[in-house]
Amino acid sequence: GAESVAGLPLKGKNVLVTAGPTREQVDPVRYFTNYSSGKMGYAIAKAAARMGASVTLVSGPTALEKPSGVHVIDVISTEDMFQAVMKEYPDQDLVIKSAAVADYTPRIKYGEKMKKNKENWSVEMEKTKDILSVLGQKKERQILVGFAAETGNLEEYAMDKLKRKNLDMIVANNVAQEDAGFSVDTNRVIIYKKDGSSIEYPLQSKEKVAEEVLLQALELMAL
Ligand code: CTP
Ligand code: CA
Repeated sequence: GAESVAGLPLKGKNVLVTAGPTREQVDPVRYFTNYSSGKMGYAIAKAAARMGASVTLVSGPTALEKPSGVHVIDVISTEDMFQAVMKEYPDQDLVIKSAAVADYTPRIKYGEKMKKNKENWSVEMEKTKDILSVLGQKKERQILVGFAAETGNLEEYAMDKLKRKNLDMIVANNVAQEDAGFSVDTNRVIIYKKDGSSIEYPLQSKEKVAEEVLLQALELMAL
C-alpha cells in the first residue's frame, strides 16, 4: 500500500532485477523456453522504482510493456542474461533474480533449419551457467534474493537453494497451483531467510508480493 512505500526507502540504492524466461535456440526457427510471463519480475522492478531505487531490469523475451523510469536490458538466452547481469553486478546493492532461467541449452545450435527428414529427432542438451550461483560466489556487499519454482517439497528445496547459492533470502512458490506462479496475475509465496526464519503469505496480486519481497529485502539491507 501507499504507506509502505512512503519516504522512498530505496532512494540511493541500485537494484537489479531479472525477469521472464530465457530462450535457447536449436535452429533459426526453433527454441526451448518455459512458461514464465515476466509479470513477477516486472512488478518487482516497478515497485523498486516507486520506492526510489535506481532500477536495472534484465529481461528475457516477454510480451510486457517496458516499465517507465527503469533501465531495461533485453536479453534472449541464459548466456546473454549471464553476461548482462555480471556486467551490472558490481554496482548493485540488491539483486532479485526472479527470471525463470533455462537450465539446459541445445549442445549444437544449427545454422540452418532442420528438415523433417527423419522419424525421430533427439536434441542433446547441456547445462547452462547457474547465474545465481555465480553471483553468490562473487557476493560482496550485495543482498541476494532468489526465487524457487517448485512443484513439491517447497521448504526443503528452497532452503537447499538458499544455502547452496549463498543467498540472503529466497521467494518460494508452488508452480503446480493454477492461481499462483507462471502466467497468472496472482502468486502465493513463502519467503525464507538465511537466519532460518520464514514468512508465509496468502494468495496476493503480484504487485503486493513485489512490495513484500522488497520490504523484506530492505530489512536485510538494514542489518
Ligand atoms: N537461476 C539462475 N541461473 C540458472 C538457473 C536458475 O540464476 N541457470 C536462478 C533463478 O533465477 C532463481 C533460482 O536460480 O532465482 C532458482 O531457480 P530454480 O529453477 O527454482 O532452481 P534451479 O537451481 O535451477 O534448480 P531446479 O530447476 O533443478 O529446481
Ligand atoms: Ca531451474
